[in-house]
Amino acid sequence: MAHSKISEGIKIPEHIAVIMDGNGRWAQSRMMPRMMGHKQGFSRMIELIEYSFKRGVKCVTVYALSTENLKRPKEEIEGLFNLIRTRFGELADRFIKHNSRIRVVGDLSLLPSDVREVLLDAEKRSEHLTEFTLNVALAYGGRAELVRAVNLAVEKGEKVTEEGLSKLLYTDGVPDPDLLIRTGKEKRLSNFLLYQSAYSELYFSDKMFPDFTAKDLDLAIEEYSSRVRRFGKTDEQKTQEKQER
Ligand code: IPE
Ligand code: IPE
Ligand code: MG
Repeated sequence: MAHSKISEGIKIPEHIAVIMDGNGRWAQSRMMPRMMGHKQGFSRMIELIEYSFKRGVKCVTVYALSTENLKRPKEEIEGLFNLIRTRFGELADRFIKHNSRIRVVGDLSLLPSDVREVLLDAEKRSEHLTEFTLNVALAYGGRAELVRAVNLAVEKGEKVTEEGLSKLLYTDGVPDPDLLIRTGKEKRLSNFLLYQSAYSELYFSDKMFPDFTAKDLDLAIEEYSSRVRRFGKTDEQKTQEKQER
C-alpha cells in the first residue's frame, strides 16, 4: 500500500523505481561511442538518487542491467563491468555517508567474480544502515526472480501466499514501488519488477536517461502526487478511508 509522505503539499513516494533507458541513443545522437552514454548515465544516476534522498524518498531501485542485456556485444558488457569496477566503490562511499543501505538485486552469479566482489563489499559495508535503501538491479530479470522465488518455496516444501512470495523476492524488506519511471521514450517494463509493480504509478519520459535532470524527477513526483490511487476501490471508499484516518 502507499506509504507516502507529504512535503509542501506534495505527496512524496516512499519508493521510486527507475528504468534508466536511453544511454546508448544519447551518445549515438552525439556521434559518440555508446559507452560515453553509460558514463554520463552513471553520473546522472548518482545525482538523481541523492536528490531523491533529499526529497524524503526512502528507497530507490535503479535498473542498471537486465539478464537480457548480458547478450549485448561483449565490448559493451565489458565496458559496463568496468564502470562498476572503477566507480561503484565511490558510489558506495557516498551513500554510506548518508546512512544508506546498498543492495544488489539480480543474479550475481552471472557476473564476473571481481565485479561481484565489488558489489558484495558495498552490500556488506552498508547492511546495518537504515536511513535509505538503494537497490541496484544488475543481471536482473523479473521472470527469473519469480522463478527463483517459486523454486525456493518448493525446496522448502511450502505453498506460497502473496505476502510469502514477495518475501522470497530480491526486494524483500522494502515496500513495492509507488512510482515507476522509465526514460528513453519506450513504454514497456522490459522485465523489471513484474510482481512488485502491480499497483505502481507509471511515468514515461521521452528524455534519454543522461538528459533526465533533478527537475524532471520533480515533475514526475508532482505528477505522481496528483494521481488518485484507488487500489481497486471506488473514489467514495477512498474518501471515507481518509476521513476515518
Ligand atoms: C540503458 O540504456 C542502460 C542499459 C541497458 C545498460 P541503453 O543502453 O539501453 O540505451 P539505448 O536504449 O540503446 O539508447
Ligand atoms: C531496459 O532497457 C533495461 C535497463 C534500462 C537496464 P533495454 O534497453 O534493455 O530495454 P528494451 O530492450 O528496449 O526493451
Ligand atoms: Mg535501451
